[in-house]
Amino acid sequence: MQCMIARFGGSYRGPRSLTHFHQTKARPMFRVLSLEQLDVANKRALVRVDFNVPVKTGTVQDDFRIRASLPTLRYALERGASLVLMSHLGRPAGTGFEEAYSMKPVAGALEAQLGRTVTLLEDCVGDSVREACMRLKPGEVVLLENLRFHKAEKKGDESFGKQLAELGEVYICDAFGTAHRADASMTVPAKVLPAAAGYLLLAELEYLGKLVQAPPTPFVAVLGGAKVSDKLPLLRTLGPKCTTLCIGGAMAFTFLKAQGKEVGISRLEQELVETAGEILEELAAQGVEVVLPVDHVVAESLEATQTKLADGEAMPPDLAGYDIGPRTVEEFGARIAAAKTVLFNGPPGVFEKPAF
Ligand code: 3PG
Repeated sequence: MQCMIARFGGSYRGPRSLTHFHQTKARPMFRVLSLEQLDVANKRALVRVDFNVPVKTGTVQDDFRIRASLPTLRYALERGASLVLMSHLGRPAGTGFEEAYSMKPVAGALEAQLGRTVTLLEDCVGDSVREACMRLKPGEVVLLENLRFHKAEKKGDESFGKQLAELGEVYICDAFGTAHRADASMTVPAKVLPAAAGYLLLAELEYLGKLVQAPPTPFVAVLGGAKVSDKLPLLRTLGPKCTTLCIGGAMAFTFLKAQGKEVGISRLEQELVETAGEILEELAAQGVEVVLPVDHVVAESLEATQTKLADGEAMPPDLAGYDIGPRTVEEFGARIAAAKTVLFNGPPGVFEKPAF
């Protein structure tokens, strides 16, 4: 079975450019330069990472995304580069510093993984930030404060993006988890600086490239996470190529609601219920099997330590679903076991919380 973990789970097995993408297609869809094609030696490398990790009371709860960035960071450091790392964390208001969204815990977690000092700068733009970056010596690492403390980041603001670009001599994008966002840090530096994709981004593009061509079937996609809105393009483009779509996570409730099911106080994208119903109809017409949860692990809130199992047909109106139940695990598991290709995109439950 070929198993592909989309989003941030792939491990890249060795340096290679993505030219094979172009070779297998009559017309290239896009051109991606790989890290080895960029001269990073003794340069100040501005690296867009996705360190949007769960943080609770100042501690990183899951450092998976941080660890996933290490091959790229080490590659550049081994070549004498200094690193200016930048990321968003959560969704602050965009009106300045907010303690709850500071990158401070991330700097500590990265330092532990990287085994060298990671200095957190007080902001991501401004004179003192620029000066600190200009002073960097080979092998030194700074992490900028949360990009989203500035509204300009989400707006894709050109002048903000150029201020970020000034901090580096080359730009590496390794933020696959943010690749669907046209944020300033994702788009502008790539136009201004010599740029390349990092190993994480390359690995994910390689896996996904195979999926949009001719994946061995049965092809099962297991989708989860919170936001249907983010997954709509994926459902519409990749959905018809699948044999089966198993939909878990909070996004399942929008689909269940579209089927007229009770979802209690589970997270719901009410404005997308109608669209979810249309997608279900489209997929059925295309012969794609859609498997939705038939039972849920429910609780009063995310902080609850007491959980219950609820049958999908008898969802308590005052509780929310935070994970799939055992019968759903069996349903998904049977499809996965019979598959030749599996794509995982988003978790079926709130895995950061032990209760789920
Ligand atoms: C994510 O975790 O989905 C990415 O980091 C993007 O975050 P966002 O949905 O807040 O833009």
